[in-house]
Amino acid sequence: MALSNQHFAGRAPALSQHNVTVSKHGQYHSQVLVNGDTKRVLCCGLACSEIFSGPLLGRCLMSGHEYEQQAIENLLEGENAQTLSVHTSAGVPAAMSTFLEALSKHLPWSYSDWFCSLQSEGASAVLAAVDLSFQLRTEKEAKRWKVGVASTSYHGPPSTALGSKTTLFSKSEVQMMYPCPSPFDSPEEMELKFSEYVKWLDNHCSDLASILIEPQWGSSQCAFVFPPALLEKYMVEAKKRNLIVICDEIMCGMGRHGAAKTLFLTKALHLQRHVDIITFGKSIATGAFPLSGCVVKNGGGDFNTRGKTVMQSHTYSGSCVRSLMAAVEVLNILDAYFRNDDAVPNFDINSKGKLMHQLLEGIAKKSNGLFVVNGQGLMWGMMLNKDTCAKGNLDVSEVMESLKEECNKQDVLPYFVPVGGIMVTPLFDVDKGVLKDIGTKLALAIESVVKKSL
Ligand SMILES: Cc1ncc(COP(=O)(O)O)c(C=O)c1O
Repeated sequence: MALSNQHFAGRAPALSQHNVTVSKHGQYHSQVLVNGDTKRVLCCGLACSEIFSGPLLGRCLMSGHEYEQQAIENLLEGENAQTLSVHTSAGVPAAMSTFLEALSKHLPWSYSDWFCSLQSEGASAVLAAVDLSFQLRTEKEAKRWKVGVASTSYHGPPSTALGSKTTLFSKSEVQMMYPCPSPFDSPEEMELKFSEYVKWLDNHCSDLASILIEPQWGSSQCAFVFPPALLEKYMVEAKKRNLIVICDEIMCGMGRHGAAKTLFLTKALHLQRHVDIITFGKSIATGAFPLSGCVVKNGGGDFNTRGKTVMQSHTYSGSCVRSLMAAVEVLNILDAYFRNDDAVPNFDINSKGKLMHQLLEGIAKKSNGLFVVNGQGLMWGMMLNKDTCAKGNLDVSEVMESLKEECNKQDVLPYFVPVGGIMVTPLFDVDKGVLKDIGTKLALAIESVVKKSL
């Protein structure tokens, strides 16, 4: 196959050639490499952007496919054709109400004036949530126009996402960083961070409209789970000071957290009393189509009376019928799974999660303290221990380069994260044999890195 993709400037430096993923079979991707060779790679990262494969994925795509096929036939015949998308100033597609109905089954609350903003990618969903939190302020609180963001956090690409550094512009006007726990903290250190957080809130709450929390971190802390009791304490203190609490579940949501059979971790942890807005995205429309958004617990009636609208990052936000139809299928399948309905496979997120944990812990134990394991459900990470690196005079980026090389030799591709580590976020419908294959390949790769490094 001729490769001519070097003018795509993506994650690799500009004018790089990229490998081409020609086909997928579950987690196994068939690639044509830059040198023309072919390779089968076990892609086990993918940043939670995919959820199902095989027949289940086919089932999620079918209704939208048939709808689109009918629209194309009508277009070719010069007849009235089904709406595929519509500029949202003109109307919304019929699939919008089916989507909202499917989503409503998963909400952690039963308020009647909840509302949902739809966007295309996660970073915009976070910005929409923050915009809404600013608008939810009362007149008395109008001077509060900042958002609190964890000192370690990631909510999208550096250019726009809150929490990240950017080369484009400074976000210091809008965001303030609060102390948060890390996987390397002892329980005492976590408590200390919490008291620093309370002091921080006392100092800054008069400027803050909202606080943004990742209940299970994504790439910035390699799937580290915010200890639930501490998480609740963080939220309670924010609510005491009238802050809007936004839970960013773009990475850990969709039931991936495995904490209970629920879409949102907020619901699994019974935090709905404290949480005002939840974001979602990534695999909600299977990953084949982009869709993201945020749900606001209540206040829609007030917004309506005050004539307030919601930020739209994309003029067509929420209007792509194929995205909405795929999302309806995903949400309905997950609803059936959570209800133990025999009509869908039992993904067994928890027992697969336990296996993943066992496999990664086994690898970490043999790494002489180089890696720690974080995670739950089907969202796992192995994070480089910076203290071990410092003691062994190891450069984090060199260890990461070596890990990439060794993973490449083993034909396994986790998600390499800039903080120093990897994430493993399997599809829900992979079988345990694939998880074992992930474990074997990662074990061999990490064993070589440890031999070379320590
Ligand atoms: C916690 C979190 N929020 C938001 C985003 C942004 O999502 P997207 O990449 O779809 O913009 C990410 C991306 O990984 C994330 O990890």
